[in-house]
Amino acid sequence: MEFKCLKTSDNARLSLLWLKDEIELPAFMPVGTQGIVKALLPDTLIDIGYKLMLSNTYHLYLRPGVEIIEAFGGLHKFTNFKGSILTDSGGFQVFSLSDLRKVTQEGVVFKSHIDGSYHLFTPEKVLDIQFRFKSDIAMVLDECPAYSLDKSFVEKSLNITLNWAKRSSVIKRPPHTAVFGIVQGGVFEDLRKKSALEIAGMDFDGIAIGGLSVGESTQEMYDTVASVMQYLPEDKPRYAMGVGRPEDIVRLVGFGVDMFDCVMPTRNARNGYLFTDFGNINIKNAAYAKDESPIDENCDCYTCKNYSRAFLRHLYKSKELSFYTLATIHNLSYYYNLMQRIGQAIKNNSFAEFSKSFLDKRKYGYS
Ligand code: GUN
Ligand code: ZN
Repeated sequence: MEFKCLKTSDNARLSLLWLKDEIELPAFMPVGTQGIVKALLPDTLIDIGYKLMLSNTYHLYLRPGVEIIEAFGGLHKFTNFKGSILTDSGGFQVFSLSDLRKVTQEGVVFKSHIDGSYHLFTPEKVLDIQFRFKSDIAMVLDECPAYSLDKSFVEKSLNITLNWAKRSSVIKRPPHTAVFGIVQGGVFEDLRKKSALEIAGMDFDGIAIGGLSVGESTQEMYDTVASVMQYLPEDKPRYAMGVGRPEDIVRLVGFGVDMFDCVMPTRNARNGYLFTDFGNINIKNAAYAKDESPIDENCDCYTCKNYSRAFLRHLYKSKELSFYTLATIHNLSYYYNLMQRIGQAIKNNSFAEFSKSFLDKRKYGYS
């Protein structure tokens, strides 16, 4: 992996990341938990413009299992996805999906949400799994503590996460996989500072900020990211995990974040919530029953070029499977185009103006 920051505009960074392909940052990564984005063909993701997808170690390790994926020669060959793949470590999913878990200095024991079997994830084991997947970017094991006002709990959790990060940073990496460290520390400025400085001092290829959007207010989330930024090296990519809404992405790019992932565009699509600059459209709404216009007049995606709101509403109401595909294409195109507009604004040295006009538009006119 190589990374080069080309230009900044009001703290927003335009960069290049070389994985399988050259990828322009800031970038959004669609979530393909099982090695594929729900309701989409892998090539459609590429057609929209995406060159990087996120998948989950937790799910793929439990099913189909490492041996099968390894026997195919890795995740790319198994899934036939032609772009690059970042895998999350499993830490976050253990904490959100498994009903039983026990964290020790060694690692985390958890109960599978699929068949109830017990497993141990250690920092060494989750990296080994991701290396065997031949992920382009592997994430270290971390603990994402629930949003909590109890600082001593968050501090204890952070110390374990930092110990895990240290162990992860000294593991020899195969040439095909980059490894990113993860900053935690909840909403506590001093814990975030300690975490950021320690992770920044370790040998990682990039740095993620985790523990965001877990129940804190939007303002707390922005303040946390803004404060962490000052401790991070300029020569490594920065990734805000699980963020977020279009307005969050614009704000965080303005603090210097380069990479994002979130289930929002894909999950919302399947629930009938479609993105536009003027807010989300709820396709269920009776107002769209006879509406001949596309979801978004300004969108050049396959769905908007071909289908009316009225037809899409009909597909949604009839639970036609193609609704999920058409809606996902639109929402992921909306996010892709947003990242293109952000990149263009940085190139034009006008990120602050873009950000202001975008945030003003998104604030009004929900329908
Ligand atoms: N995805 C969203 N938030 C997090 C986090 O804090 N840690 C990890 N590993 N993945 C995440
Ligand atoms: Zn569209």
